[in-house]
Amino acid sequence: MSDETLIARREKVLGPAYRLFYDRPLYLVRGQGARVWDAEGRAYLDAYNNVPSVGHCHPNVVAALAEQAAALNTHTRYLHDNVVDYAERLVATFPAPLSQVMFTCTGSEANDLALRVARSVTGAQGIIVTANAYHGVTAALAEISPSLGPANPLGAHVRVVPAPDSYRLGAEGAERALTQGVKDAVRSLQAAGHGVAAFLCDTVFASDGVFTDPVGLPAGAVAAVRAAGGLFIADEVQSGLARPGGSMWAFERHGLIPDLVTLGKPLGDGHPIAALVAQPQYLEEFGRKTRYFNTFGGNPVSAAVGRAVLDVIAEEGLQENARRVGAALRAALQGLAARHEVVGDVRGAGLYAAVELVSDRAAKTPDGARALRMVGALREAGVLVGSCGAAANCLKIRPPLCFSEADVEELVAALDRCMTQIAAPA
Ligand SMILES: Cc1ncc(COP(=O)(O)O)c(C=O)c1O
Repeated sequence: MSDETLIARREKVLGPAYRLFYDRPLYLVRGQGARVWDAEGRAYLDAYNNVPSVGHCHPNVVAALAEQAAALNTHTRYLHDNVVDYAERLVATFPAPLSQVMFTCTGSEANDLALRVARSVTGAQGIIVTANAYHGVTAALAEISPSLGPANPLGAHVRVVPAPDSYRLGAEGAERALTQGVKDAVRSLQAAGHGVAAFLCDTVFASDGVFTDPVGLPAGAVAAVRAAGGLFIADEVQSGLARPGGSMWAFERHGLIPDLVTLGKPLGDGHPIAALVAQPQYLEEFGRKTRYFNTFGGNPVSAAVGRAVLDVIAEEGLQENARRVGAALRAALQGLAARHEVVGDVRGAGLYAAVELVSDRAAKTPDGARALRMVGALREAGVLVGSCGAAANCLKIRPPLCFSEADVEELVAALDRCMTQIAAPA
């Protein structure tokens, strides 16, 4: 069947809300490590997908899944070792006092649950997020996800603060702007009678364009929220699980201890597992008021998968790999910046990087059109990357954690060729 026929069938049956990547959508049929293959057998270097965290179809993860699926799958209303083992292993990767975990299936469910806990323990409704944040699909999260655009109005209880744009404001300016933005938001929420339930923040600021530095960037903002009685919720759905390299979780880079942490995408190497990790006093209060049951969240198969992913990260030294290869990646990207005017800035930590494209280096004018062409040209060249930032002008590089130095060379050579090819504005 042709791709055109499949696209038409897909649109007919799935409706118009779904989006495909690329002008020529990709039909992928197989994956291994940081490599995927399309239906014609063409290989692509995957520098984009963080969900297959320890590599596409890792055999140990597949085996753990198959073994438990062949034995039994139930849910958390029955006793099972797997969920307790996995919970203990997962919370052990967090600094004290983040010592309890509740399981969900998606990052959205984890964020939704975090909002419920924060509101329950603070008695307040107000939520603070960054300018181009995305936190998930539920009604409560669409109202706090400005990146969904004007068709999804933000709630009256939501305040948006500017992204800490270190490229344009400088390191100190970005930190100051974020802190001031949150202080203003706190005052505004209090004046409107909503109070402050939480500052929900991805500390890599990925959808805002990846602002990883300076270290300590969100600290002033977090202090301002806590001074107003609100909680700090770190959304690690994209950024966490060994990807930062120097630490397991992105918030740790900043020397911060969140009240609640939400997890998702990479936990199951493609299998849907997500979680809320919390300081126990918050769950104590929440659990006294209400009960929690998530039919699929924390089932024995998911728990076996999550445990296998943690094993692979440890056995294959993937956190250290993220640190070492991530540093090589940023150095190589800086090399590109020296050769190509279009590169305004290179940012990132571990295996999360952004290359900000501009049409005018002096004015730092975002060039979203060029980024879109670059993403398409790279796909044709056999390399997958994405884009991010409010103007979608940053190339988003977020590969599986097994990405190697040879993969960096291949990626950067392709970036180099495509930047030369797209030297003229569209
Ligand atoms: C930062 C962040 N939080 C939450 C979510 C929602 O996760 P899920 O799609 O698993 O519901 C996403 C998904 O893109 C995300 O990037």
